[in-house]
Amino acid sequence: MEETKVQKKVMLSGIQPSGDLHIGNYLGAIKNWAERAEQYDCYYFMADMHTITVRQDPAALRRRTPTQLAQYIACGLDPQKNTLFIQSHVPEHAQLGWVLNCYTMFGELSRMTQFKDKSQKNADNINGGLFTYPALMAADILLYQPDYVPVGEDQKQHCELTRDVAIRFNNLYGETFKVPEPFIPKVGARVMMLNDPEKKMSKSDPNGCVFLMEKPDDIQRKFKRAVTDCDTEHCVRYDAKAKPGVSNLMDIYSAVTGKTYAEIEREFDGLGYGAFKPAVGEAVADYLRPIREETERILADKAYLQSVYKDGAERAGAIARKTLRKVYKKVGFVER
Ligand code: TRP
Repeated sequence: MEETKVQKKVMLSGIQPSGDLHIGNYLGAIKNWAERAEQYDCYYFMADMHTITVRQDPAALRRRTPTQLAQYIACGLDPQKNTLFIQSHVPEHAQLGWVLNCYTMFGELSRMTQFKDKSQKNADNINGGLFTYPALMAADILLYQPDYVPVGEDQKQHCELTRDVAIRFNNLYGETFKVPEPFIPKVGARVMMLNDPEKKMSKSDPNGCVFLMEKPDDIQRKFKRAVTDCDTEHCVRYDAKAKPGVSNLMDIYSAVTGKTYAEIEREFDGLGYGAFKPAVGEAVADYLRPIREETERILADKAYLQSVYKDGAERAGAIARKTLRKVYKKVGFVER
């Protein structure tokens, strides 16, 4: 009998270690990553090279990068089943990044909304890296020839640019890169700020955000202060348009308890927001406790963590080297 080896589809994504992970990152993305390893060949990396496009405190970056890796593992990403690595450990990212800079147009880069946003927010430091960041991101992706790139809505434009650059390069030099598709998961909650339910949860405002490493008391305090809606009925009912604050809390509560909206409405029937908010706080604190404790345990084991990222960089590097060699050849660089 002939046996056909089914090649798993490849998936790759990165998160910038520019702030601590929060429940928005977890419920919206990382939670779904863990289950994917059976179906896909997955690469996840800490995009540390991207973070320095805005000024970072070196000591904080040095701490956050391994912390983020420990958190990924604590969240269920098995380093045996997934390739987990740190971007700056695989120099091919910078190398291919340079090449792709030369195949990415000034006009294309000028249209990136993230560049426009970030240059407004960092008006005193609009550096070249901030501008050419999408070319580095294209390199991050194309090095691994992935089929899918799971990202949030905000990164779609960068993924489109990556496709355009890949197609442009392939047209010039023949099939070199697989043209990947953005993968915007259907499952996964879109978690909003606790203090402003119109905005997506982001680490930029710690008051509206619950971090994975936060202590139960602090979590509880943030939920008690969460903005609910100033409607008169004051009851726990799902209505994302009219009651964005309560609906966001219901989404979070549902994600951590597995309860449906109907079950939640029944549970708090007649009880109002005063009972609901601390209940969500407690459920989230309980839910995060094992993740926090596991992260702390992993962080204390420096040798283990090092072995994970060393091994990850080796595995990633082997794939990245192949692609880079091909690219260097195609553009006419002499082999060493
Ligand atoms: N730009 C992404 C962000 O800010 C992070 C990132 C860098 C990334 N390289 C990537 C995501 C490659 C997916 C694939 O969120």
